[in-house]
Amino acid sequence: MIAQQSIQEVMDRADIIDVVGQFVRLKKRGANHIANCPFHNEKTPSFYVSGAKGIYKCFGCGKGGNVVTFIQEHEKLTYPEAIKWLASYYNIEVEETEKTPEQKEKQLAEESLRIVNEFASEYFYDYLLNEEEGQTIGGSYFKQRGYTKETIDKFKLGYCPDGYDVFAKAAIEKGYSAELLEKAGLIKQRNAKHYDVYHGRVIFPIQSMTGRVLGFGARILKKTDKAPKYINTPENELYVKSRVLYGMHQSRQTISRNDECFLVEGYTDVISLHQGGVENVVASSGTSLTEGQLRLIGQLTKNLTILYDGDAAGVKAALRGLDLALEQSFNVKLVLLPDGEDPDSFIQKSGASRFHEFVKENKKDVIGFRLDVGLKEVGDDPVQKSKLVNEIAESIGRINKTEDFALQDHYIKLASEKLEVDPSGMVNLVNKYIRERLEQERRQKNRDAEKAPAPQEYVEQPQDVLAPPEEEEQEWELVRVLIEHGEKEYEGYDNVAALIEERIDPDLIEQEMARVVFDSYYAYEIENGKLPTVNFFNTFPEPAMQTKLATLLQTRSDISHNWKDIYGIETLNGEQNYINEVDSALTYFELKKLILVIDEISKRLKTEKEETRYIALMTKYLQLKDAEKEILKKTGTMIFKKNTKKA
Ligand code: CTP
Ligand code: MN
Repeated sequence: MIAQQSIQEVMDRADIIDVVGQFVRLKKRGANHIANCPFHNEKTPSFYVSGAKGIYKCFGCGKGGNVVTFIQEHEKLTYPEAIKWLASYYNIEVEETEKTPEQKEKQLAEESLRIVNEFASEYFYDYLLNEEEGQTIGGSYFKQRGYTKETIDKFKLGYCPDGYDVFAKAAIEKGYSAELLEKAGLIKQRNAKHYDVYHGRVIFPIQSMTGRVLGFGARILKKTDKAPKYINTPENELYVKSRVLYGMHQSRQTISRNDECFLVEGYTDVISLHQGGVENVVASSGTSLTEGQLRLIGQLTKNLTILYDGDAAGVKAALRGLDLALEQSFNVKLVLLPDGEDPDSFIQKSGASRFHEFVKENKKDVIGFRLDVGLKEVGDDPVQKSKLVNEIAESIGRINKTEDFALQDHYIKLASEKLEVDPSGMVNLVNKYIRERLEQERRQKNRDAEKAPAPQEYVEQPQDVLAPPEEEEQEWELVRVLIEHGEKEYEGYDNVAALIEERIDPDLIEQEMARVVFDSYYAYEIENGKLPTVNFFNTFPEPAMQTKLATLLQTRSDISHNWKDIYGIETLNGEQNYINEVDSALTYFELKKLILVIDEISKRLKTEKEETRYIALMTKYLQLKDAEKEILKKTGTMIFKKNTKKA
């Protein structure tokens, strides 16, 4: 944690004109400076910077903020990282506040791994470029694959000499301990001897979003049956495979600017695409997507386009990660490359413009893709076909974000055409799967309710203390619950934070400040691998934000003291009752979303002429109305504003 005083010092020194000027060409215009916006593509400048006010604003894309948010946004850094960036730019020493012994130990382990990786990466890179063996063996390999010097520099590719301990000797001589080198996966110790794990291989450093070397992939040069094609860094404090995507550092800005991320399988696919001019691409390195990886991408874009090799094995493996992406509201598209091609070979043969053309022509959505792959497999077998029809219907029923009803409708139409089944039959089948799922969820909820004593008894008493919260307060209440209870247990989830992340669509939080706090909570988790503590929220520099957060985190304890005085209720907001608070914060947002969607559907029902769609819409409408009734019944006296700003 950075000390408040250091943050203040950075804020006092940082000059927005100077900092922004490092990244864009500013021109003076009256009291302001203007430029072409670095956050979206434009030909005439609509990006304004005010030195006097210390802020920037783009009237094209709407992005705006202060010097810290600029660095955060532009360099894709978290708040503390941006502060550190600015501190190092202005040569200010940053003071860190005290950490617990475990935190210190973990940080020490990470830090030493980071340093040894940095050394190794430099060593391999230098060996490739400047040593004879590196040039003749590693260098010719990359040359034969068509990689330029520029590409080698961009990805810091390297080569590990083929003697069994050349690297180990050099590293130990530099003072790195054999234990650390072994933990980093760089050497193995046996009978008091050291062996280079990557000897005779070319090296692909794996970097974090901000460019730290977390680990390595090392590729063998010749085909042999015995040795694996790649050796990768084992999991350690620094390298956590499920939270890493190869190419993230080099691609982050283009992913964000193009608002799309390509996902490929291999290191070489990422590199070749970059060299061919496609710079928004990352690799999952041969595994199916994890939640942590999706979160990394989700910070930059929700549009994910997955490129598959022509062979069937790859397709099956990748389809497994998809449900996760869909549940997290990614807009997932799939592209199947021609037989025998992977992205690497395709772009090298055909170039960037043909690549984009091909992607555009062959992009499929998930269900469309499953339909095509399924139809190919099924052939004329009627039993297989009926299985496929059911599978597809279930997938369609799984689209569970209420606002995606139009999508569901679209797929029903598409599927019934492709599978040649009667549309109304398909509607029925999809509805059957939805009912089954809802019924299952309901039973689960009842089971949960039996276990936990019903907390509702309290709700009615403190009416006048707990006046119906205004919409704004509801949003802040969610933020408070997240900060105060994020780490606590919640059945069926890792913790409360995970529950909230899954169930709340951040777009529904309309207040800018509340949104910022909400987002920075999860950004912190992604960057640090753990949830932020209350203290983290003392570091927001804006005075208005500080005041708001201070009051927010104070209020509840005041109220509960009040309650204790008035009603003699000890535990109303005590520790045991946090589940209550979490649930009601969630309920508000669920109802808000429902009301928005119900409004939208009733509008569409008035104009829909086509019968199948009408039935699908009506089914959905009734289902949502039921859900609304359920929630209202449960919450009893809770009051909701029906006319939200959006509707
Ligand atoms: N992979 C791995 N270990 C292996 C094989 C593959 O970790 N033994 C991972 C690597 O991250 C690799 C990805 O799976 O990049 C895809 O595998 P593959 O297509 O075989 O490798 P490429 O990187 O495409 O290498 P090349 O183009 O040289 O075949
Ligand atoms: Mn390959």
